[in-house]
Amino acid sequence: MKTIGIDLGTSACKLLLVDEDGRVLNTVTREYPLSFPHPGWSEQDPAHWWRACREGVPELLKGFDAAQVAGIGVGGQMHGLVALDADDRVLRPAILWNDGRTAAQVDYLNNTVGRDKLSAWTGNIAFAGFTAPKLLWMRQQEPDLFARIAKIMLPKDYLVYTLTGVHATDYSDASGMLLLDVAHKRWSPEMLALCGLTEAQMPRLFESWQPVGTLTQAAARALGLPAGVVVCAGAGDNAAAAIGTGTVGEGRCNISLGTSGTVFISSERFRVDPNNALHAFAHADGGYHLMGCMLSAASCNKWWMEDILHDSDYTAAQAEILPEKLGRNHVFYLPYLMGERSPINDTNARAVFLGMTMDTTRADMTQAMLEGVAFALRDSVEVARSLGLAIPRSTLCGGGSRSPLWQTILANVLGIPLDLPATEQGPGYGAALLALVACGRYENVAQVSRSMLQVKRTVEPDPALTGLYNERYAEFRQIYPACKPVFAALAKGAV
Ligand code: XUL
Repeated sequence: MKTIGIDLGTSACKLLLVDEDGRVLNTVTREYPLSFPHPGWSEQDPAHWWRACREGVPELLKGFDAAQVAGIGVGGQMHGLVALDADDRVLRPAILWNDGRTAAQVDYLNNTVGRDKLSAWTGNIAFAGFTAPKLLWMRQQEPDLFARIAKIMLPKDYLVYTLTGVHATDYSDASGMLLLDVAHKRWSPEMLALCGLTEAQMPRLFESWQPVGTLTQAAARALGLPAGVVVCAGAGDNAAAAIGTGTVGEGRCNISLGTSGTVFISSERFRVDPNNALHAFAHADGGYHLMGCMLSAASCNKWWMEDILHDSDYTAAQAEILPEKLGRNHVFYLPYLMGERSPINDTNARAVFLGMTMDTTRADMTQAMLEGVAFALRDSVEVARSLGLAIPRSTLCGGGSRSPLWQTILANVLGIPLDLPATEQGPGYGAALLALVACGRYENVAQVSRSMLQVKRTVEPDPALTGLYNERYAEFRQIYPACKPVFAALAKGAV
């Protein structure tokens, strides 16, 4: 038996073929464009997702027996709004998780409706990237299109719909819509009413490992797969990545250094951060998690290296950073290229380099950028610690985790050992494991997730360096509050 795991990412779709023992047999990546039609907006055409899958699956299966594929699981970028009309046609480009157009709607939700009510109904408050504020934006700005909405769903759910013809979602991804009563795992009647939606417009809710259906004849033909292939509900990308790194059950932590940066803490029972700085979401193992999400993590590195320095040799650029410079940098960087979600929730925030002098080098600035992302991740870890969660160690995954320098910086900024999984394949791997559960190969998600985790290396913090980074972090913490009023004024055009 084999399964296919699909990671529907922001810049690319990554497909994996996995055998019944969780071994990765093949991978294929297909990139697609992202559009920024206005500053702060971020959109994508769902047709690209299906094209990437349609072209990628036959390539993935080259040299393998397609008849052995029993299941498909999809993990995907969260929060994006996909709206379909009565004929299941896409009404407008999907508005993505890192889109910042909804500042006014977030303000209305958090300050007029009120954080207390939102938190009681959903376990969360509004953040710009969440789906509910996007629906309010669409109702105000595109009323004709809004009136034609027959179904809404999340990006990976659109792929599942194209594969099976079923409108489905799973609890982990649905948690990020601000439309789910996460504690009770049902749509929130209050939030649906507030957004002008009925339950008929919502996809059906499933646990991540539950089969939602089998491939339609058309999808099976297009992909070169048997029609009986089971498709499970899948998960939001962070929950799927957590399954792939053994982050299940109570009190485990996974940090992802991808386009976004996330701190993901699994728990068996539902728990809410009283300040709602961390998201309180369902997990793909049937339990829950708390998560801090920063919008620009590895994307800061890409922006700095490729867009600013026009240099694609990341290894050489990082080799210029001398070990004795770690913990002693005089340059700081705020990583808020797209505004920021956790924990500051500020769409006006922007990236800043601070502290340069005449002797500052390009290497100092590259180092500051890597450190700034690590400090911002620590902001979320500190919120979790303030709730009494221990976080004695964490796994580390995502594209940025391949940099040995970034691993060292992060382990020392956080002051904890970081375990690097041997199979670092991200959300697509977790999605393939979910499909193995859907096909009956494993009894439950916790079992398959734990049995697959092999740590290839642990990055241990060095007490002296952690001490230096504690001092730098205390300085870093002062920068955003000082800049905040300037960011607000810039956003109003008052500077
Ligand atoms: C999580 C989030 C991001 C996206 C990235 O809340 O918004 O991690 O899921 O794909």
